[in-house]
Amino acid sequence: MKILVLNGPNLNMLGKREPHIYGKLSLPDIEETIKKHAKSLNVEIEFFQSNYEGAIVDKIHEASGKVDGIIINPGAFTHTSIAIRDAFLSINIPFIEVHLSNVFSREPFRHKSYLSDIAQGVVSGLKEYSYICALNFLVGFLKS
Ligand code: DQA
Repeated sequence: MKILVLNGPNLNMLGKREPHIYGKLSLPDIEETIKKHAKSLNVEIEFFQSNYEGAIVDKIHEASGKVDGIIINPGAFTHTSIAIRDAFLSINIPFIEVHLSNVFSREPFRHKSYLSDIAQGVVSGLKEYSYICALNFLVGFLKS
């Protein structure tokens, strides 16, 4: 089983970026935690981060036929990107939307997601555990 973990804009700044909101771990720290957990589940993981919307769209297209599931933290593109929504609608791969912070307890513009209604599920506010919860669910879901 192979799962792609996608991270959108500014998530390469984790650790330095608003740590009171996003936590102190860097993206490589989080990816290491995910990798360790994936190993215990016997799952292969590919990581990809980009600050560019088109690069994320391309990666979603390329995933078709190559991965079984996707975990995505779209960052600010969550609240703006019809292009990423359409990319998911153009492939047939289940995905989970994740957020480190609880977007619903923040500014109203963060309450709107262009992805939530087409995602298999959404995990928000559990810091790095959002990714781990998504991975646990996705692996069980794909096996069922
Ligand atoms: C985020 C929440 C978004 O609103 C924000 O733009 C991010 C990170 C999160 O993980 O909490 O960049 O997706």
